[in-house]
Amino acid sequence: MDRFLIRGGNPLYGDIHIGGAKNVALTVMPCALLTSETLSLKNVPDIADIRTMCALLDQHGIDISTDPKDKHHLSFKGDITNTEAPYNIVSKMRASVLVLGPLLARCGKARVSLPGGCAIGTRPVNLHLDALTALGAKIEIDGGYINAVAPKGLTGNKFVFPFVSVGATENTIMAACLAKGRTELINAAREPEICDLIDCLIAMGAKIEGKGTGRLIIDGVKALHGAEHSVLFDRIECGTYACAAGITGGELRLINGQASYMGSVIHALEEAGVEVFQEENALRVRRTGTLRGIDIITEPYPGFPTDMQAQFMAMLSISEGASMISETIFENRFMHVPELNRMGARINVHGSSAIIRGVHSLSGAPVMATDLRASFSLILAGLAAAGETNLNRIYHLDRGYEAVDTKLSACGAKIERIKSN
Ligand code: UD1
Repeated sequence: MDRFLIRGGNPLYGDIHIGGAKNVALTVMPCALLTSETLSLKNVPDIADIRTMCALLDQHGIDISTDPKDKHHLSFKGDITNTEAPYNIVSKMRASVLVLGPLLARCGKARVSLPGGCAIGTRPVNLHLDALTALGAKIEIDGGYINAVAPKGLTGNKFVFPFVSVGATENTIMAACLAKGRTELINAAREPEICDLIDCLIAMGAKIEGKGTGRLIIDGVKALHGAEHSVLFDRIECGTYACAAGITGGELRLINGQASYMGSVIHALEEAGVEVFQEENALRVRRTGTLRGIDIITEPYPGFPTDMQAQFMAMLSISEGASMISETIFENRFMHVPELNRMGARINVHGSSAIIRGVHSLSGAPVMATDLRASFSLILAGLAAAGETNLNRIYHLDRGYEAVDTKLSACGAKIERIKSN
């Protein structure tokens, strides 16, 4: 297993290119199952989760080609030859369940392995199934698989999400596009990733109203056609590198970053003492003074994203005063805490809240990545810490961040990927 060796203490200065959003790419790629024509996607990040989604779509019968001049431009075309999403792929990546809605809508049947729990929580898919059932699907769980059928196709209906789910909203929107009649979704997720999915579907001929609100109206169409779509920038990658400027006391230009898509993250950065400036095609972030402790509660968009919680915790660990972070989305998302404490942080967890008492400095240590965002919180701590940090199990990081060491090194970080034998 590869690891990162980080020698901390250098403020970061320079430009970092923010790529396309992993969580957009993972929902627009399954849209290829909704048409027999070509779906051409630009700005797709080159990361392990995308390769997993490609493997899944490939075994459903979709041909995938990469533009020889641009590895971030992928085209998808083909007829579905297999409606089963097997355990060996779904168990690697939960977002695989996003093929369920498109397969069911297009083929009238789908068999998708249940994803099971993951490191950050149990993460059930009951809302995905309830919403598709409301559209007329008959769903059974058998042998660890979701067996869904709709022999006469899906039919539009009203569905109220009892709480906000990004994935369930995505699956239902995709399915509703090919359902007969009108679907009304209440309490739908409003994340920028959902808005970008809607833009892609509209480009494919879908009829969707209410983008960016909690009430979506989808009028089903007989067929969708091919389209070209460019994936939105990754607001989580952008926020993560903003924390890198914050924790090291440097200044970074985050190319493609747009504050208007980042919800309350911008306010949290500013409150903590990180200045943010929107430039024409970049977000410039810098810290010149001390970091200040702040309180954060994770919430659906436009609230503070759970995917930014670990990175802020690392940054706040060296702030003046105390901070409190409450996690309301996932039940087990503080696994980075013991690792940060091994580097000298003073963090206590009480149920779903963590109290962070700022310390003057961190010290490098061998640490272990536990999930994608937690991995980056340990990189951030390592960049600010005195001495060497060895970050193990970086395959978690490779799932969602492209070229981390290259991007950080170009801005003055001392970070090296050590390949395992
Ligand atoms: C997506 C993102 C993930 C982000 C999360 C919350 C992708 C690929 N992943 O995950 O990075 O952290 O949104 O912003 O886009 N839940 C249920 N039943 C369901 C579905 C969800 O109980 O059927 C619960 C989950 O366990 C969780 C909460 O609802 O507690 C929100 O989850 P959800 O928004 O669905 O997250 P994902 O779509 O899995």
